[in-house]
Amino acid sequence: MSTRQNIRVLGFAGSLRKKSYNKELLATAGRLMPDGMALEMFDLAGIPLYNEDVYEQGFPPTVEELRKKIAAADALIIAMPEYNFSMAGVLKNTIDWVSRPPAQPFKDKPVAIMGASVGVWGTIRGQYHLRQVLGCLEAHVLHRPEIMVAQVNTKIDAEGRIVDQTTLDLLKTQMAALKAWTLRLKSVAPV
Ligand code: FNR
Repeated sequence: MSTRQNIRVLGFAGSLRKKSYNKELLATAGRLMPDGMALEMFDLAGIPLYNEDVYEQGFPPTVEELRKKIAAADALIIAMPEYNFSMAGVLKNTIDWVSRPPAQPFKDKPVAIMGASVGVWGTIRGQYHLRQVLGCLEAHVLHRPEIMVAQVNTKIDAEGRIVDQTTLDLLKTQMAALKAWTLRLKSVAPV
């Protein structure tokens, strides 16, 4: 991080859908970041299914690229759909790849989680599974505010942009909280 506190944030959504609500949620968060933060979005479409035989030959290029981007980022945002009360396989598969030695890059990384679903619980059950997995990887997940956007299909305009003011306010608050969380963790990081 530079002395001007430019916080580089890498974000990815656990959905491959072109018009994914979670991709849109993530992009919206990027637009609502405070000064001194910038979001880069990474698309998980190129991440292959985990295979130990492949891993033993070396990380596939897309996985290596993502691992490097995570390692270089000051903070992460994960936007997740909920599938069958948990995270989507696309997201878990990606985390499994990235987590493999050496130097798994989630360790000590500040992470904000958000999720949107068409259901009434807004990914709450899946998000707690993701928190558990990130705990295994020693990431520092931001506790609050939680962003669980229920019935997201009623909160967008004709172009698919999120227009619900409560959601926009929450995203703005969470991005400010992620900035503060990241700076706080940086200030206590071992040299
Ligand atoms: C879903 N969906 C869903 N929604 C939810 O709130 N809780 C759930 O447990 C599930 N389960 C589930 C399983 C599977 C296999 C699919 C395909 C979908 C619906 C989900 O919220 C909806 O598809 C979202 O639009 C997914 O997010 P993206 O792709 O728009 O980001």
